[in-house]
Amino acid sequence: MTVKIAIDGPAGAGKSTVAKKLAKLLNYTYIDTGAMYRAITYKTIQQGINLTEENKIADIVQSADIILEGEKIFLDGKDISEEIRKPEVSEKVSLVSKIPKVREILVQKQRKIAEGKNVVMDGRDIGTVVLPDAQFKFYLTASLEERAKRRYSEFKTKNVNVSYYEVLKEIENRDTIDSQRDTSPLKIAEDSIVIDTTYLSEEEVLEKLYNIIKEGL
Ligand code: C5P
Repeated sequence: MTVKIAIDGPAGAGKSTVAKKLAKLLNYTYIDTGAMYRAITYKTIQQGINLTEENKIADIVQSADIILEGEKIFLDGKDISEEIRKPEVSEKVSLVSKIPKVREILVQKQRKIAEGKNVVMDGRDIGTVVLPDAQFKFYLTASLEERAKRRYSEFKTKNVNVSYYEVLKEIENRDTIDSQRDTSPLKIAEDSIVIDTTYLSEEEVLEKLYNIIKEGL
């Protein structure tokens, strides 16, 4: 039997950093589902499609060739790992992600990628919708200010020119759309372990998750 680990939570809670490290420690496959929604958003922007043109966006998802390779993501053969982190993608991704057809197709793809493998998957609806039978479900959260602070320093190190306030507003806006959408909104799965990371270091979060998993395996 394979082991599935679901990590959900709002933007900037440290999910992907911890998920990547955890996958490495356990020698499991890491699956960044947010990157898939970002890839579709990127393609939508590239093709100049308006966010109201849901049918056209649905066509894009149907035909998009998305490949996750470790921490890299390829769309139609092109490495777009850096492009998908740009502010213009972050700004629009939640609006693309709330389109039911987009979710339907990406959820199918995500389940397929996870099939027959031990995985650590991070996102918003992994424990609730994508992998409801996951043996381990975590919900990572932190105060909005702390999450914005972390994202802001990340941008600073990458020389992205945004203010702390812009980052905070962007995260807040995304969280609102992600938790209020009709299809698979961001919410805590009944059987998930909630960890508030506001006052915890990355190492402490990783250790907590690792210990819980080791005990449960
Ligand atoms: O994880 P990340 O912050 O990169 O996700 C970007 C966006 O993709 C989220 O704000 C959300 O709108 C969407 N997403 C989602 N469901 C997932 C993962 C991400 O709707 N499982």
